[in-house]
Amino acid sequence: MDVIIKEDHIGKIIVSEEEIRNKIAEAGKIISEKYRGKPLLLVSILKGAFIFLADLCRAIDIPCEIGFMCAQSYYSGTDSSGTVNITMDLEQDVSRYHLIIVEDIIDTGRTLSDVKKLLAARNPLSLEVVTLLDKPERRVVPLETDMSLFTVPDLFLVGYGLDCGEQYRNLPYIAEYKSN
Ligand code: IMP
Ligand code: MG
Repeated sequence: MDVIIKEDHIGKIIVSEEEIRNKIAEAGKIISEKYRGKPLLLVSILKGAFIFLADLCRAIDIPCEIGFMCAQSYYSGTDSSGTVNITMDLEQDVSRYHLIIVEDIIDTGRTLSDVKKLLAARNPLSLEVVTLLDKPERRVVPLETDMSLFTVPDLFLVGYGLDCGEQYRNLPYIAEYKSN
């Protein structure tokens, strides 16, 4: 059988399981207070944010719905924004909800900036962005995030949903990927 996790590629742990758990508990409390009594929809962009969404929604103690989108952005030349190709769309009519986009990591900011514009154009009651990780050094497009749980250095990271060639998503922590 193939070895799925090649441990020699897993470097330093950048965010531990306990740190993730604690921050998500705090974020869940803040979101629950802010949206109590309001129709709330958590939208995750697949695939990277699926684990974060699963844990975040269980830290929220008010009613909420979840939805998934598959979106990829394509860029030509030096354009800072691209064309978003939606390969799987939300089922919900977002104009009936307060929307939170739940993202795994913001790198250049391009994908999220494009998805945010696209969802804003559908007139949700409100729209905010919660990201687990933020790599501000890599930003190309200015992007407002309403909540960022961890600021991380400019390293390639794997684990807790983040992949390298579709592997390592199942690590329970976030680690540096070593190419060796
Ligand atoms: P960007 O902000 O448009 O550049 O793209 C962000 C997306 O790139 C994220 O949603 C991830 O899927 C992926 N990504 C960015 N940095 C990393 C990383 O360090 N590890 C794994 N995926 C990453
Ligand atoms: Mg992603």
